[in-house]
Amino acid sequence: MADSTPRRFTRRTFLGWWMASLLTSTVVVGLAPILVFLWPAPPKGQKKTAIPITLDKAITELSPGDAVKFDAPTSPNSAFIMANGGGDNAPGDLAFGGFACKDQKGGTHVFAINCSHLGCPIGLNTTDKTFDCPCHGSRFYMDGTVKHGPAPAPLSDLSWKPGGDPKTIVVDGIILGF
Ligand code: FES
Repeated sequence: MADSTPRRFTRRTFLGWWMASLLTSTVVVGLAPILVFLWPAPPKGQKKTAIPITLDKAITELSPGDAVKFDAPTSPNSAFIMANGGGDNAPGDLAFGGFACKDQKGGTHVFAINCSHLGCPIGLNTTDKTFDCPCHGSRFYMDGTVKHGPAPAPLSDLSWKPGGDPKTIVVDGIILGF
């Protein structure tokens, strides 16, 4: 026959629950900052967009071996999205500048400014017609391929299309915030 006597809520039971809830809240309070760090809230106000850029010179006017540098807008704060790449660059990585250029064969390119070694901004070597990295000496041909290491991979392309006038190109990017 089953015991129908109601179980008593003893002082020991109460203290057990009290200790358990105290321990749980201590652990939650202690872990909360770590969890927020591991799973940060999605950034507000960021959105992918096509960014119109006005170049110093129209791409159609570039001679083979010519390049023009451009920067991502800062108001609102924006960045370009790498279309490909290797080494330190990867598709989806952000770049805050780029070069539009014509290689020696007349091919048109729009590159992210980041060296594929460790991401330093490359510069145009107008004498040798190369892109050179000041950090560790990597050099790139104007078609983006590596001329001299330690860069392990070509420059990353940026996805772009012509804009409304000859000096404007529209580059895939992201608005980071205001
Ligand atoms: S970052 Fe360019 S050579 Fe190292």
